[in-house]
Amino acid sequence: MQSSQPSTRRVIIVGASSGIGAELARLYARDGARLGLIARRQDCLEALCAELGPGTEMVVADAANLESLSAALDLLDARLGGADTLIYNAGINYMSREWKKETEVLAVNNGGFVVAATWVHAHFRDKPQARFAGISSIAAIRGSGPSPIYGATKAFMCNYLEGMRKNLFRSGQRWSVSDIRPGFIDTDMTRGQKGMFWVAALDKATRQIYRAIEDRKRVTYVTRRWRLIAWVMRVIPEKIYYRV
Ligand code: NAI
Repeated sequence: MQSSQPSTRRVIIVGASSGIGAELARLYARDGARLGLIARRQDCLEALCAELGPGTEMVVADAANLESLSAALDLLDARLGGADTLIYNAGINYMSREWKKETEVLAVNNGGFVVAATWVHAHFRDKPQARFAGISSIAAIRGSGPSPIYGATKAFMCNYLEGMRKNLFRSGQRWSVSDIRPGFIDTDMTRGQKGMFWVAALDKATRQIYRAIEDRKRVTYVTRRWRLIAWVMRVIPEKIYYRV
């Protein structure tokens, strides 16, 4: 599908300090977009802004601090002269069953996501070219043994994003909502973890994510072969799923 491009894109990325978020920022900058970057780590954001040059704005904010994230989105929207793309990429995972850790995952992966999703609902209504994307995960498909909270937060995102698409369809709005479901990608999140396979290089995976958002895809597995794993995960009976 051919995507029609307005003159200068204005893109906000929540969770831009490393990995997929930072790489997406590089791709959009290369295409001449103006960028608004949000993350907690000021030094990483400053280094990325210096690398990307003029046209890149940043706000240091914790996605788990909902007031501060909401204010950061408003501030960047004003600085960019009206965002037309918002990517919710911030995400964490702890292999820990302490409630403080698990609720932190909930706050970043879902609390901040809801702030972003409601923000676009209010701001993209009259922008048919606008795009909203959430980076969920293959882990959304079935319950995750090593980290039940992580899979559950990603399943929440997938369900919410589908609800948004239904809402857009029924209200006749034309902006797009993309659910990006990565398998394993070589980033800080996966480095050193056991049981990884089909680990994709960051640049290859991010190019596919970028393309999916620009082409207004509804659901995309990254890399593409993970669609097969998703299908297998869906169809295998629970007793077999426990063993793999
Ligand atoms: P990463 O650890 O390099 O990136 C995590 C990003 O989240 C960083 O850019 C950071 O700025 C942001 N972030 C974390 N906590 C934050 C907070 N409290 N406030 C604001 N920003 C915060 O790892 P990666 O892989 O680039 O992760 C990006 C997204 O992709 C995450 O949502 C992750 O769950 C998802 N994902 C990654 C997979 C992988 O294999 N690397 C697989 C499936 C999903």
